[in-house]
Amino acid sequence: MKVLVIGTGYVGLNTGVVLGFLGHDVTCMDLNKEKIELLRSGKSPIYEPNLDKMLELAYGNLTFTSDYDEADIPNTDVIFIAVGTPSNPDGSANLEYVQQAAEEVGKRLNDRFTVVVNKSTVPIGSGNWVETIVRDAYIEKHGQRPIHHYAIASNPEFLRQGSALYDSFYPDRIVVGASDSQAIDVLTNLYRPILNQDFNYPDCLPRPEGFTAVPLVTCDLASAEMIKYAANSFLALKISYINEIAHLAEKVGADINQIARGIGLDSRIGPRFLNAGIGWGGSCFGKDTAALVATAHEYNLSMPIIEAARDVNYHLREEFVTRVQNSLKILKGKTVTVLGLAFKPNTDDLRDAPSIDIIQKLLARGAKVRAHDPVAVPNMKSQYPELSIEYFDDPNKAVIDSDAILLVTEWPVYKKMDWKTILKDGKVKLIDGRNFFS
Ligand code: UDX
Repeated sequence: MKVLVIGTGYVGLNTGVVLGFLGHDVTCMDLNKEKIELLRSGKSPIYEPNLDKMLELAYGNLTFTSDYDEADIPNTDVIFIAVGTPSNPDGSANLEYVQQAAEEVGKRLNDRFTVVVNKSTVPIGSGNWVETIVRDAYIEKHGQRPIHHYAIASNPEFLRQGSALYDSFYPDRIVVGASDSQAIDVLTNLYRPILNQDFNYPDCLPRPEGFTAVPLVTCDLASAEMIKYAANSFLALKISYINEIAHLAEKVGADINQIARGIGLDSRIGPRFLNAGIGWGGSCFGKDTAALVATAHEYNLSMPIIEAARDVNYHLREEFVTRVQNSLKILKGKTVTVLGLAFKPNTDDLRDAPSIDIIQKLLARGAKVRAHDPVAVPNMKSQYPELSIEYFDDPNKAVIDSDAILLVTEWPVYKKMDWKTILKDGKVKLIDGRNFFS
């Protein structure tokens, strides 16, 4: 099928590469020319395990452009809108880029039936809104109403950064929301190799044993949009729940790891997303919980459980710094080494990363901050130039003569450090924000 993906961020680029690998003819479009140049030269503009390799494998089926006219919209079967939807100050999503993409698409649609898919995480109801924008742009260009020339669908993405390609090839489910049955058929055909798991998998991402088929959930637009928010909010509150339990466990002398195992083995609860620590960060949980609460407010509803999950989560960062302070007594002038800056391992993404809040609070209390991260240091330097941090390439050097070492992101490399030597004279405090060390 002929596919266009608008936006080459995490979601768009992964979608394009995976569909290209599966044999579809994919154009990846982004207004950012630098990104497109990099992609044309075969390089990924984002850090994601296996992405460079997959880009190479799918390269023959991929075209990159930053020009809508070059994107051949009139001959395209499926158009994914996967542009950014940053948060507005009130927590609602900024849909400026979605609107722009929908207008550009609407102007160029022609007689061929095209499915326009909202892949960006958009507020509930955006599918209908995009439909209106596409239709108005179409009418303006053609001077007449479109007659079944296109349909809008919602196909939310559940991939996790750091394992985005694995999640795309081997998802727990694919959700497609649309009121038009032909749109659902088109997307079912598009995803058939994944649904049936009959594609030849790439060596770098072998199919897990026993993984034979993927459930397809088809529903209306609003339900598909809400599935995404409800799933992320549930995962976010699961993490906040275990962190709340962890607080009490610490007071009564119980072990949160044993508790998580003990409750996670109940199949109604499940073992995943029960790692206690300094809580969630990243591009989705904070944004999506805020957006759900903001949507509820528009309907005069409150969402006390989700709001509580947010409060618990963001308070953890302050509590972590208090733990450091209690341990060192005085922070002023003390050297504190932060291990890990990215919001989680295997990504260089700093969006809503706990490290940022923690470092800001440490600096405000007069600590000297050193930091190491295997991949996120360049982003930290460019995005937070005002933070006075001494960066190290080698974590073993970063910890020399530190008063405290803070494990903020659980990169595997930190397990391999020579902890016996580092901790031998008992002077340095190791404060583990991720329950990473035994
Ligand atoms: C999340 C969702 O998992 C994914 O389905 C959605 O499409 C996008 O948002 P992502 O943000 O990439 O993915 O990372 P995820 O692995 O879910 O972790 C989110 C945050 O929660 C990280 O900061 C992580 O450190 C934290 N976390 C996760 C915990 O604190 N404890 C856990 O048990 C699991």
